[in-house]
Amino acid sequence: MHLTTEERAMLEGKSGKAVQKAMQILVALGTIYEADGMIPVSSVQVAGVSYDNLGDAGIQFLGDMLAGGASTHVLTTLNPAGMDIENWQTLGMAAEFAQKQMQVIDTFKRIGIIPTCTCTPYFCGNLPGYGQHIAWAESSAVCFANSVIGARTNREGGPGALAAALTGRTPCFGFHLIQNRKPGITFDIERPKSPETADTTHWFGALGKTIGQHIESMSDNPVPYIRGIESASIEGLKSLCASLATYGGCALFHMEGITPEAIQFSPPQVTIRISTEMVEAASDSMTDADSSDVDFVSLGCPHLSIREIARLAQLLNGQQVKKEFWITTSRQIKQLADQAGYRRVIEDSGAKIAADTCCVVAPIKGRFNAMATDSAKACFYARSKHRMKTMFRTFDEVVLEALKG
Ligand code: F3S
Repeated sequence: MHLTTEERAMLEGKSGKAVQKAMQILVALGTIYEADGMIPVSSVQVAGVSYDNLGDAGIQFLGDMLAGGASTHVLTTLNPAGMDIENWQTLGMAAEFAQKQMQVIDTFKRIGIIPTCTCTPYFCGNLPGYGQHIAWAESSAVCFANSVIGARTNREGGPGALAAALTGRTPCFGFHLIQNRKPGITFDIERPKSPETADTTHWFGALGKTIGQHIESMSDNPVPYIRGIESASIEGLKSLCASLATYGGCALFHMEGITPEAIQFSPPQVTIRISTEMVEAASDSMTDADSSDVDFVSLGCPHLSIREIARLAQLLNGQQVKKEFWITTSRQIKQLADQAGYRRVIEDSGAKIAADTCCVVAPIKGRFNAMATDSAKACFYARSKHRMKTMFRTFDEVVLEALKG
């Protein structure tokens, strides 16, 4: 693998131990994936932030990197943590967990990483441009960056993303190369009859599951080219990205008339038709709980936009929730919600705005029986990680569920 003089110096330890370790990680990755060399990146998103996932070994690794002089070279933001940094007690987190989680975040900050603690960095100052090479971890954000923005990133793991942050480089393979961004299969989507059903986070989540499971079953995991969708909101697309990544391991799709690179490619001849019945079946498969089971309600996977918060405030105005209800979003969007008056309306209802975290990375296993959500991704992890039952509903229906006794 070709390295520049500067990259070779990094590998030889001339920029310190942490950069040397980072370059070793990148060279190992590049060797495995047969990269010809490195490519400079303009932005990084680091995942693996929750102490629930990192454990003490992760804290030790980060501490060693800091001691070795780790410092970011490019704009780097952080994925959600295991708790709301300010309101962890309200969410029922243990003090010991909070202390460890703060240690993790403090170390990331000392390395120079901006503690956005969100999976929607594109709403919070980390918005790459079309065609820019970046190194992002967090599967939903990766799919969004590649597909909706047209930036170029592989699906980085935690160490690979951190190594890119410290060196400003990543191995040039996979989705950094245009030939790997070509679609391999066309999905023709039958639009739902009712306009209210189309372009909701719920419908796009179910569509993502349907397409994702097709992709997952194909040995070459082709890039999907999606046809038949007339319009898609940012919120619908972020839901689709999260679901495609979860159920299909998909890091890139093209959508005719919607995503920026689609125009460069002809639709592949191999075509699968996705009927409304198939999407409905995917939707139904994510519900195994009824109202009497549901004791936890959550919106915000991926983190809510300010437009979703505004809708939520409208729905909750003057109402009282009867179930534990978490609204997960970034601290930046929470501040906007505060300024706009939405936060007061939401909190007056008894719902809790949980910034910096989400219902998947927070350590809630064993606390709840069943969760109502509009997120296909959250359904997958609530079942597999937290062993909860799930109820998959539209955004507005989820709010109604929280209001039921
Ligand atoms: Fe984001 Fe957590 Fe969902 S990181 S995409 S809210 S699982």
